[in-house]
Amino acid sequence: MKHYTSVHDIDNINSWIEEAKALKANPLKHVTLGQRKTIGLLFFNSSLRTRLSTQKAALNLGMNPIVMNVSGDAWGLEFEDGTIMNGNTAEHIKEAAAVVSQYCDIIAVRAFPSLTDKVKDESEQVISAFLKYASVPIVNMESATGHPLQALTDAITISEHTKKAKPKVVLSWAPHVKALPHAVANSFTQAMQKMDVEFVITHPEGYELNPDITGNTPIIYNQGEAFKNADFVYTKNWSSYKNYGKVLNTDPSWMITKEKIGAAKFMHCLPVRRNVIVEDAVLDSDSSIVIQQANNRTYAAQLVLKKILEDL
Ligand code: CP
Repeated sequence: MKHYTSVHDIDNINSWIEEAKALKANPLKHVTLGQRKTIGLLFFNSSLRTRLSTQKAALNLGMNPIVMNVSGDAWGLEFEDGTIMNGNTAEHIKEAAAVVSQYCDIIAVRAFPSLTDKVKDESEQVISAFLKYASVPIVNMESATGHPLQALTDAITISEHTKKAKPKVVLSWAPHVKALPHAVANSFTQAMQKMDVEFVITHPEGYELNPDITGNTPIIYNQGEAFKNADFVYTKNWSSYKNYGKVLNTDPSWMITKEKIGAAKFMHCLPVRRNVIVEDAVLDSDSSIVIQQANNRTYAAQLVLKKILEDL
């Protein structure tokens, strides 16, 4: 595999899940594969899980990870072509991506959307620029529209915890005080569409995700109806896609409660705001598998890096 920028880079999700489980059972089996190889992890935005699990994954493969908070520590980057750079940006991505490629065998990038300019966000300006100007493989650690490492993690976690051949998985919107990106919900939807699950999405009207992504997935505006017979409730807030980046409501009746989810397992990519997105009684119970889910971030990343290293 050359790059991992989207769930669509997964050619066979079932075999990837099985490979990830095998890595989890024996994390150091391929510890020589990445020897003398360096991965640069470039963060334009905050992270706890992605930052640590991707480093851990690289270390498990014998790689040397180097990490940079680009927004705080690097020169201000320019992404527009032909710009007269007499403003706040000091370095063009053309040089920056080419230079980082001299130091790193793989570059992983996190760059969130503006949520103010839909066209620019959907162009995936940052990831696209690295794909264009870097000379090494690129890994998406959450971009404007996708979080494919998280989605692979989620697929692994559902596979590990399901008791049925075809579980019912519900993606539920929940309220949040801030406008949040669509990336996690988009990639989770794409991953579930590849799996043998009964998948439905529930959210208040106005919070429809990009219809090019949801496709034929059923959307149910009544959360209680959507949750009937659910095996997994995957919760995430996102801002409006149609009324781009806007918070249309923060209706607390959409918060996830123990009573609502019944016997279903609760999943969330984290970080999660307690008693806003989900009540303590869920997170502090056996219904929650968010910590097991976060643990799987390492093995999802390790599988992706392994596949890239094997093709270097
Ligand atoms: N889920 C996730 O991507 O977590 P971080 O933002 O902490 O990396």
